[in-house]
Amino acid sequence: MIPEEIERYCEAHSSQELSFLASLNRETHLTQVYPRMISGPMQGTLLRFICRMIKPEKVLEIGTFTGYSAINLALGSAKMVHTIEINPELENIIRRYLKEAGIENHVTLHIGEAMKIIPTLNECWDLVFIDADKPNYLNYYNLVFPMVRQGGWILADNALWDGKVLTADTSDKDTLGIIEYNEFVQKDPRVENLLLPFRDGLMIARKI
Ligand SMILES: C[S@@+](CC[C@H](N)C(=O)[O-])C[C@H]1O[C@@H](n2cnc3c(N)ncnc32)[C@H](O)[C@@H]1O
Repeated sequence: MIPEEIERYCEAHSSQELSFLASLNRETHLTQVYPRMISGPMQGTLLRFICRMIKPEKVLEIGTFTGYSAINLALGSAKMVHTIEINPELENIIRRYLKEAGIENHVTLHIGEAMKIIPTLNECWDLVFIDADKPNYLNYYNLVFPMVRQGGWILADNALWDGKVLTADTSDKDTLGIIEYNEFVQKDPRVENLLLPFRDGLMIARKI
C-alpha cells in the first residue's frame, strides 16, 4: 500500500473532485454504514480516464453502492452504463446523483441480485467493472466473459483486499474469493492481465 502522505501528495497534484461527486462523497460518509466502500476521487478519476481512453460503448458495473463509480464510468464517454445494486435502500441516493450529474439517461440502474440480472442483459460489453460481493467475483467473471467482446476489458476492484491476499486466511470468505479470482485470471490463457497496485488493487484483464 502507498504511504498515506504519498497518497495525500498524489491527491494534491490531481484535478479537484467534481462538485457533485464531492457532494456524493460527503453524503455517503454522512449516511452510510460502510462509507469506505465508495471509490473516492482517485479511483473515480482513474475509471473516468480509462473510459475516456478506450471509449467503451457498453459498460457493465456490478456493485453500484451510492453511484460514485457509475457516474465516473458514464462521464468517461461510455454510451450506456448498466449498473447493478442489490440494496434497494440505495436507489434514491443513486438516482438523485445521476440526475445531478446530468447522466440519468446515460445509466441504467438495476436493483437486484447481480447473478440473476446479468444473464437477462443481452449486451456485448466493452468494459465490465466488478465491485460487489467478493466470494462471487469469479462467478461474475465466468458469467460475463462470453458477453465481453474480443479486446474488451474486465476490471476488478479490491484485488489486494487490504493486503490480506498474502495471509490466505481460509476462514475469511471474502479473502478467499479475491485470491481465487486473482489466481484464475492469472492462469486464464484467454486474457492478458495486470494487477495494478493502485489503492486497494485493481485487476485489469483484457480479453484476447
Ligand atoms: C464496494 S461497494 C461498490 C462501490 C461502488 N462501485 C463505488 O465504487 O463507489 C459493493 C456494492 O455491491 C453491492 N452488492 C453486494 N452483493 C451484491 C449482489 N449479489 N448483487 C448486486 N450488488 C451487490 C453492495 O450492496 C454494495 O453496495
